[in-house]
Amino acid sequence: MRCIDELPAEELKGKRVLVRSDFNVPLSADGEVGDVFRLRRGWETIEYLSKRGARVIIISHIGRDPEQSIEPVARALKRFGEVVYVPDITGASAKGAASAMRDGEILLLGNLRSDPREKKNDEAFARELASLADIFVSDAFAVSHREDASLVGIPKFLPSYAGLLLRDEITHLTEALEPPQPSIAIIGGAKFETKDPIVRLFLEKYSHVCVVGAIASDCLKGNGFPVGRSRVSEHMPAPEVCSNQLLLTPVDVTVEDSEKHVSVKKPKDVLPDDKIVDIGPETVAALAPHIAEAKFITWNGPTGIFEEGFISNTSAIAVLIAKRIEKGGAHCVIGGGDTIAALKESGVPEEKLGFFSTGGGAMLEFLLKGTLPAIEALG
Ligand code: 3PG
Repeated sequence: MRCIDELPAEELKGKRVLVRSDFNVPLSADGEVGDVFRLRRGWETIEYLSKRGARVIIISHIGRDPEQSIEPVARALKRFGEVVYVPDITGASAKGAASAMRDGEILLLGNLRSDPREKKNDEAFARELASLADIFVSDAFAVSHREDASLVGIPKFLPSYAGLLLRDEITHLTEALEPPQPSIAIIGGAKFETKDPIVRLFLEKYSHVCVVGAIASDCLKGNGFPVGRSRVSEHMPAPEVCSNQLLLTPVDVTVEDSEKHVSVKKPKDVLPDDKIVDIGPETVAALAPHIAEAKFITWNGPTGIFEEGFISNTSAIAVLIAKRIEKGGAHCVIGGGDTIAALKESGVPEEKLGFFSTGGGAMLEFLLKGTLPAIEALG
């Protein structure tokens, strides 16, 4: 795999460069992009190319509804630079706009998923996309686990490179695969079945694995504790996972009863009417020494239902990590859309927390497999 910055700048000038970004971002109630994190991270490659005189054609999907327009992304990108938006992908308008571009200009085409051939990895669609440009740059790390036409098909037809973001993600996540010791992984989220392989892998690679979020309730239940009305997964963790000495489960939990009263309890005291909504402060205190000595920290998943205001323990962990990094000698990799959204609310600045991956599912899949289909497609 070659990265685009390995290509001499003079070979970019005047070239049409097709950049596959992942600008799949949630929209706020007003229909506009709320969080520009992915846009900001993806902009680095676009700006790099534009500054070298390339004619940059951005392609991305948004959402899973083929009807969804990517125009809000076009509006949000304007805060980073001038972008022309053409709501077409491979039709006459897109071709016309691509051929009329001048050096350094940036064009955003329509939502890739509005063409059903994208998800089908249709070769003719990939060829049509490739025909818009001279060079392809794959920079959509967060969707690199999908075998879509724009991700694995286009490299068959164009000289292809990794973008700066994709390269960065690979570098940091590869480190997370062989962490220096001592290390700690903090894993949250729901649906234990989707986290089971990563929890098992981390139990082999990390000094400790701490489960938080909904999967913590699964592990507590697996260890025989009552979990009341808490969300639990269909697929429960196996006994050898729950009882693993390296697995850290909450020593206290924040619960909400059906009257919306919130309290902190020991897991054994959870009542049938309680719903576990977060870990508790004693669990944060129990984690503190592990974080303080860790040389590597991987974190995916907030500790609680932050959308409902249960953010304080996620914030407390962020503060511990920021302090550890400030002391020096520790790396931290954080990922997952929810984690990043929660950390934004925590008030701890991103730059104090290490590397933020743009990937959710892609991050976990990369950690499991050490590669992804869109990376493999670059050869
Ligand atoms: C993401 O946001 O995780 C990626 O864009 C992948 O989206 P998908 O799960 O709809 O393929």
